[in-house]
Amino acid sequence: MADRQNSHPVFTSLQLGPVHLRNRVIKCGTNEGMSRNGVVTDQLIEWHRSFAAGGVAVSTLAYCSVSFEGRTFGDQIWMRDEALPGLRRFADAMHSEDAKAGIQLGHAGWFAHPRATGTRPVGPSRMFSPHSQRFSRAMSEADFERMTREYAAAAALAARAGFDTIEVHMGHGYLLSQFLSPYNNRRRDRWGGSLENRARFPRQVMRAVREAAGSRVAVYPKLNMEDGFEGGLALEEGVEVARMLEADGSVDALQLTGGHTTRTPMFLMRGDVPLREMIRYESDWVRKFGLLVCGPFLIRKYEFEEAFFLPSARRFRQAVKLPIMLLGGVTRLETMDRAVEEGFELIALGRALICEPDLVSRMQAGELTESACNHCNRCVAEMEREAGVRCVLGEAERRGPR
Ligand SMILES: Cc1cc2nc3c(=O)[nH]c(=O)nc-3n(C[C@H](O)[C@H](O)[C@H](O)COP(=O)(O)O)c2cc1C
Repeated sequence: MADRQNSHPVFTSLQLGPVHLRNRVIKCGTNEGMSRNGVVTDQLIEWHRSFAAGGVAVSTLAYCSVSFEGRTFGDQIWMRDEALPGLRRFADAMHSEDAKAGIQLGHAGWFAHPRATGTRPVGPSRMFSPHSQRFSRAMSEADFERMTREYAAAAALAARAGFDTIEVHMGHGYLLSQFLSPYNNRRRDRWGGSLENRARFPRQVMRAVREAAGSRVAVYPKLNMEDGFEGGLALEEGVEVARMLEADGSVDALQLTGGHTTRTPMFLMRGDVPLREMIRYESDWVRKFGLLVCGPFLIRKYEFEEAFFLPSARRFRQAVKLPIMLLGGVTRLETMDRAVEEGFELIALGRALICEPDLVSRMQAGELTESACNHCNRCVAEMEREAGVRCVLGEAERRGPR
C-alpha cells in the first residue's frame, strides 16, 4: 500500500516559496457562510478542521474583505484587530492537524453591497451594479493609495495571525479583476485603457501584499485567465498579466480561475444552475425578484467537464515558470496525478472537498479514486442559509461505491 501511495505524484511534498506543503492538494476558498459579525466562529474553524484532518496540505479561509467598504454581506469577515483572535485560532487549528492555514483576501469593489457597508460602492469606473442596485463611484487617486494600504494591512494582520499562505482575489469580477477587465475598467488615465494600465493597480497591490506579508508567508493571486464573455478580459491578456506578475517577483504562485460574478457566474463552476434554491434562500427581496424574473435568461449554464480549466491553464503553463495551482472541476485522482506530471505543481479543490472533506486521506489510503460530487451546485445556494455551506447529497450517495 505504501508504495502505491508514494507513486502518486499528487501526494508528494512541495516547497511553495517559504512554505513546506505535505502534498499538492489545496482546499480553495469557498465562501462558508459561517462567519458572524465579521469574525471567525467556532463552526467555521471546525469545518476547516475537517479538511485539514482529511489530508489537504492547505485549507483556505475564504472571502475575507480587506476593509469594511469591500464587503458584500454584513457578517463577512473584514480584516481588523478585532478579527485577530479568531484568525489566530483558525491558523492554530489547521497547524494542529499538520496542515497549513491559507486566507483569501479580497474587496468587492463595484459590487460591494451598501446594505453591508452603508456607502456607495467604489470601483474602477462609475457604473450601475445589478448586485448592489447602485451606481459605483470611480476611484480617486486618494482611493488608490488608501486601498493599497488596506490590502497591505490585511496581509500583515494575516501574517500576525499565523497564516502560511495569502491569496489575493484577482478574479471573478472582484475589485482587482474589475481593473483588469475592459468591461468594468473604462478609465482613460494611467489606471485604464491598455492592459499595462489596467494591470497597474493589481500589480501595485500584489507588491504591497508581498512586502507586508513578510518572508515566512507564501503569497499568490487567484487570477482570472479570462472573464468568459465578449468585452471582458481575454485569455491572451490573462497570460500577459501572469507574465507581468512573474516579472515583478511579487508572487510565489498563481491560482488560475475564470468568469465574472455578475456576467458569467457559472463559468467559474460549470454544471447545474440551482436557480430554485438560489431564489428560495436569497434574503434580499430585490435580488430575489430579479432572480425569479431574469434568472433563467441571465444565468447561463455551462456543461461540466472534468478539469474544465485545464486547456486554458496550459497556455499559462507554457508562458511562465511560476508554480501553478490548477483549479476547476478536478474530481479524480488520475486527473490530479496527470496534472502534476504535466507540470502543474498544485491542485486546488472546492466542491469535491465540500462533498467529502476527507477525500484526500481516503484517496491516499486507496479507498477512493474519485469524488462523489455531481456538480449539482446546490452547495452554492446553501451559502445563503443560516447554517452555512454544506453538501446536500445524502450520506449514502457520498459514502456509496463508485
Ligand atoms: C459554495 C461555493 C462558494 C464559493 N465561494 C468562493 C469564494 O468565496 N471565493 C472564491 O474565489 N471562489 C469561490 N467559489 C469558487 C471556488 O473557489 C472554485 O473556484 C470553483 O468552485 C471551481 O472549483 P471546483 O470545481 O473544485 O469546485 C465558491 C464555490 C462554491 C461551490
